[in-house]
Amino acid sequence: MHFDVATLDGSLCYKLMTSLVVPRPIAWLVTNNGAGGQNAAPFSFFNCFSGNPPVLCIGIGRAPERRKDSLANIERDREFVVNMVSEELAQAMNLTATDFPPDWNELAMAGLETAPSVKISVPRIAASPAAFECRLREILPVGQGSGNVIVVADVVAIHPTVCLFLPIADFLGAVREHPSILAELYLLAVEREEETRAILDEETATVEDFDLL
Ligand SMILES: Cc1cc2nc3c(=O)[nH]c(=O)nc-3n(C[C@H](O)[C@H](O)[C@H](O)COP(=O)(O)O)c2cc1C
Repeated sequence: MHFDVATLDGSLCYKLMTSLVVPRPIAWLVTNNGAGGQNAAPFSFFNCFSGNPPVLCIGIGRAPERRKDSLANIERDREFVVNMVSEELAQAMNLTATDFPPDWNELAMAGLETAPSVKISVPRIAASPAAFECRLREILPVGQGSGNVIVVADVVAIHPTVCLFLPIADFLGAVREHPSILAELYLLAVEREEETRAILDEETATVEDFDLL
């Protein structure tokens, strides 16, 4: 079975892509709204594409009448914060997916406290399990006339709430103790702990192990 994209209905194409490329983490993007407050919105077309230097990409689609507020704000200020989402924050996150007018302070509306960033003027969401301060590198249009863009950003500061530098077993333990921390993100890792441990306990292979000669 296959679908030829050249003749595929657009909404079915979207459904196939979003249901087959899973799981996807959510970037909860905060920007300054130009009126003294903040805009927030979730984006699941998101991931990191380089660790050093750290680079994140976000896919922003076309809005029916105007550009999405997040994109307009990024184009104007060239900075934003990507916040990760825990289960407790899911409801507030959903609220910020509503298409509110651009000058409404969506963080205040969702009852979310902010914490100052260190390198940029956009604050982060205080309750978020991890946040990345970002500066815009470039905006890549996707195709002609689709209105979709890929925002490529340099991460300039990182705020993890849990220590990610723990040995893997301790880290998995910490996640199990506080399941809401990064729950979505690390579910897979926790479920596969036994398997992960077994792999880690094995000695690292060397070239000689592969008997290539
Ligand atoms: C879980 C979730 C994931 C979403 N992912 C995306 C995405 O990847 N790209 C996109 O353009 N919109 C996405 N949306 C829709 C935007 O969040 C929505 O259009 C929002 O109103 C944009 O807000 P803004 O105009 O304030 O930027 C997503 C919505 C939800 C609830």
